[in-house]
Amino acid sequence: MAYETIIVEVEDHVATIKLNRPDALNALNTQLLGELTAALAEADENDKVRCIIITGSAKAFAAGADIKEMSEKSYVDMFMSDFFGKEGNAVIKTRKPIIAAVAGYALGGGCELAMMCDFIIAADTAKFGQPEINLGVIAGIGGSQRLTRFIGKSKAMDMNLTGRFMDAEEAERSGLVSRVVPAKSLMEEAKGAAEKIAEKSMISAMAVKEAVNRSYETTLSEGLLYERRLFHALFATEDQKEGMAAFMEKRTPQFRDR
Ligand code: HXC
Repeated sequence: MAYETIIVEVEDHVATIKLNRPDALNALNTQLLGELTAALAEADENDKVRCIIITGSAKAFAAGADIKEMSEKSYVDMFMSDFFGKEGNAVIKTRKPIIAAVAGYALGGGCELAMMCDFIIAADTAKFGQPEINLGVIAGIGGSQRLTRFIGKSKAMDMNLTGRFMDAEEAERSGLVSRVVPAKSLMEEAKGAAEKIAEKSMISAMAVKEAVNRSYETTLSEGLLYERRLFHALFATEDQKEGMAAFMEKRTPQFRDR
C-alpha cells in the first residue's frame, strides 16, 4: 500500500515504520494515524515480519497530536470520531513486538504512542513530555495512565502539571525507556534488538508480550497464574522441544513457529 505520511521498509524480518511529516515534526493527524494503523495491520499479517520498529526523524519522534487539525474540533467531533481511540487500540492489539526508536521530541500523543509500543530505545537527544496542559487540555491516550504506571505518580504529575520535558537520561533512570544510545547509533541499536527478537520463536515472543502486558491489567496472583499457564502451554510447541534440544546439543535453535 502506498503511504504519504509514513515510510515502511521491510528488511531482515523487521518492518520499520518511519513517521514522516517533517514540516510538522511528525504531528499525528488523521491521515498519519490511519496509515500507521494500516501499516501495523500489514506487518502483523506479513509472515516475513517478526518484529516492528516505529521511529521518527532526528528532530522528532512525534511532537504530539496535530494541534492545527484539533484546534477547531468540538466535544461532539472528538467524541464521535473517538479521536486516536481506534488507532491507539490498533497499536496495542498488534501481536508482534513493537520497538519505539525515539530521537528528539516525543510529546503528548507522541510520548503516548511510544508508550504503547513494547519498549522504548531512546537516542541521547530524546525529550519526552505531556505538555497538553499548555493547550488547555490534558493527555488523552495514556499520558496520565501509562506514564504513571511506568514512572510513578510524582514524576507523572510533575510532567502532566508543569508540561516540562524529560531528557533521555532521566527517562532511563525513571524506567520510561529501556536503553539510551548515541543518536547516530539509534537505528542500528533498534534494528539489532529487533533482529535478536526476530531470531526467537514467534510463539514465545508473542507470549512474552501478552504476559508482560497482562501485568498492567490484573492482580499479581492472576498475572502469575496467567504467566504460568502460558509457560505450561508452550510445552505443546515444537519450538520448546527444539529450543531445549539445541541447548543440550550445544547448537543454535532453528525455531519454526510451531
Ligand atoms: C501541529 C506542530 C506540532 C503539533 C510542531 N508543529 N508540533 N503542528 N501539531 N503538535 C509544527 C509547528 O507548528 C511548526 O510548523 C513546525 O512543526 C516546527 O515547529 P516549531 O514550533 O517551529 O519548532 P521548535 O521551535 O523547534 O519547537 C519544537 C516543539 C514545539 C517544542 C516541539 O513545536 C511544540 O511545542 N510543539 C507542540 C507540542 C505539543 O504541545 N504537543 C501536544 C499536542 S496535544 P510551522 O508551519 O509553524 O513552521 C496531544 C494530545 C494527544 O498530543 C491526545 C490524543 C487523544
